[in-house]
Amino acid sequence: MAHIVIPYGTSEGQTARISEFIADVLRGHGHEVESLDLKHADHLLPGGCDAAIVGASIHMGKHEAYVRDFVRTNRDALENIPSALFSVSLSAHGDMENAEKYVSEFEDETGWHPSRVALFSGALLYTEYGFLKRMVMKKIAQDSGSLDTDTSRDYIYTEWDGVRRFAEDFAAGLGQKAVQSNL
Ligand SMILES: Cc1cc2nc3c(=O)[nH]c(=O)nc-3n(C[C@H](O)[C@H](O)[C@H](O)COP(=O)(O)O)c2cc1C
Repeated sequence: MAHIVIPYGTSEGQTARISEFIADVLRGHGHEVESLDLKHADHLLPGGCDAAIVGASIHMGKHEAYVRDFVRTNRDALENIPSALFSVSLSAHGDMENAEKYVSEFEDETGWHPSRVALFSGALLYTEYGFLKRMVMKKIAQDSGSLDTDTSRDYIYTEWDGVRRFAEDFAAGLGQKAVQSNL
């Protein structure tokens, strides 16, 4: 059993939901999992953790600045344990090239090059946005051609099967490492 930490940044809550989903999958594999909302946590990876999955979402072309700070501060620790990054954006729903670009900018800015990276589609939560944000997001959706524009409802684009596969693969990687270190 490994102690896995999931430090994440979120603005409207979708990355938090994805973190909890990943945590549940990993717990199902017998691991002890701790989700850490970095907005409310201090900036050190908890001591004694065996693996980490960092999550962040995109707003105006950038991942949360406090997630970048967390990764910069903890880069050495992240490089010494099995670790992964998942990035949540609307670009991941139809514009993968852009979604990949956000991650490569994040890697350049933090100096961290995680061996596993996942790009997950986020959500358009029109009913939870204030008026201005709702109008801005509707315009972005219209311009994109791949997003929905009915502001009377929300749209969740996250593909939960893909999130489950990512978590299962991460757990399988931990299992292989444990086997190798016992050889
Ligand atoms: C104000 C605002 C700006 C956004 N900017 C971008 C963007 O530049 N590129 C993108 O792909 N998605 C963008 N998104 C979509 C978010 O990444 C998506 O809604 C995601 O689910 C947010 O995750 P969170 O709820 O964990 O913060 C934006 C969303 C909002 C509300």
